[in-house]
Amino acid sequence: MQPPVKPPQPKKRAEPNSPAAVDPVTTRIDPDRCIGCGLCLAVCPQETLAIADGKAVVRGDMSMGCDHCGAVCPTEAIRVNAVDPAQFEFQTFRADSRWLPHGHFDTAALVNLMASRRSCRNFSAQPVDRALLEDLVKVGITAPSGSNCQPWTFTLLPDRAMVERLGRRIGDFFRKTNQLAEKSWLRHILKWIGKPELDTYYRQHYATVQRGLAAHANDGRDLLFHGATAGMVVAAENDASCPAEDALLATGNILLAAHAMGLGTCLIGFAIEAMRRDRSIVRLLGIPDYETPHAVIALGWPAETYQRVAWRKPVTIRF
Ligand SMILES: Cc1cc2nc3c(=O)[nH]c(=O)nc-3n(C[C@H](O)[C@H](O)[C@H](O)COP(=O)(O)O)c2cc1C
Ligand code: SF4
Repeated sequence: MQPPVKPPQPKKRAEPNSPAAVDPVTTRIDPDRCIGCGLCLAVCPQETLAIADGKAVVRGDMSMGCDHCGAVCPTEAIRVNAVDPAQFEFQTFRADSRWLPHGHFDTAALVNLMASRRSCRNFSAQPVDRALLEDLVKVGITAPSGSNCQPWTFTLLPDRAMVERLGRRIGDFFRKTNQLAEKSWLRHILKWIGKPELDTYYRQHYATVQRGLAAHANDGRDLLFHGATAGMVVAAENDASCPAEDALLATGNILLAAHAMGLGTCLIGFAIEAMRRDRSIVRLLGIPDYETPHAVIALGWPAETYQRVAWRKPVTIRF
């Protein structure tokens, strides 16, 4: 089967003041509404707007489509057609689209949420409503992205059967990898010719993988996805300016929002590792070759509670 062909791409976007071209401007300004306050000029990262005859006008030919001008305008005179307000409409809760000024939030409550998120390894068998998964994606995309590329994509595994299907493929990959890693002569030869990866894998992961494979084979226990009833693969288009960062920032949002919604989550690094090394697993999910998965999230209703947040190790801080 041929990998999907990459669709025509928009012009590369760039950080403010960088020489690279960005998207064509889709901003429209209603002169009847504009009062010429100039607020939109101050927040535009691309210097796309100007004031002429007391009204804001589009002068530049580049836009990041960030909607900063639309969000700052006191008279709703600006429409940035690159953005879609429906992306901020949620099915399971009502979101407040008023801007929260700096300092107007309970820091302690925010930190409590962040610190209470735990990697969940005990999920109940209860399925997760698709609406929750779709809402999580929309929370994810409120994250910043390099050059506002928003290159992320989200592949949902909405039920346990889909999670198990992916788990079987990943299990096959690691079974083969462990069979290779068992060959000490192979590890030594590869190490000797400057490829120590299999030896490192053997020392760091072989035993854990072997235990997981045995648990699954002997009594059906799922040590990979921990019995999650849903999952999500967060990928990003490779030619974005910061694809990995963008995908992981969206992922961070999703983990926090899931906790707030009552869902448990766990990032599954073993799944990412398998996808990196065996592209057929990525294709199985319909993810095209011009995207790279950066996070696999196990999701479900948690069957565990804690008494307090978990402490962290001492941190290094430099000035
Ligand atoms: C990985 C990453 C790198 C970024 N680098 C820059 C940068 O070098 N200069 C800059 O002005 N903004 C930078 N940004 C900010 C993005 O341009 C910004 O997040 C995006 O335009 C969306 O706007 P928002 O953060 O207000 O939602 C970066 C963002 C991310 C996530
Ligand atoms: S922020 Fe709105 S009202 Fe003010 S100059 Fe820009 S378009 Fe006009």
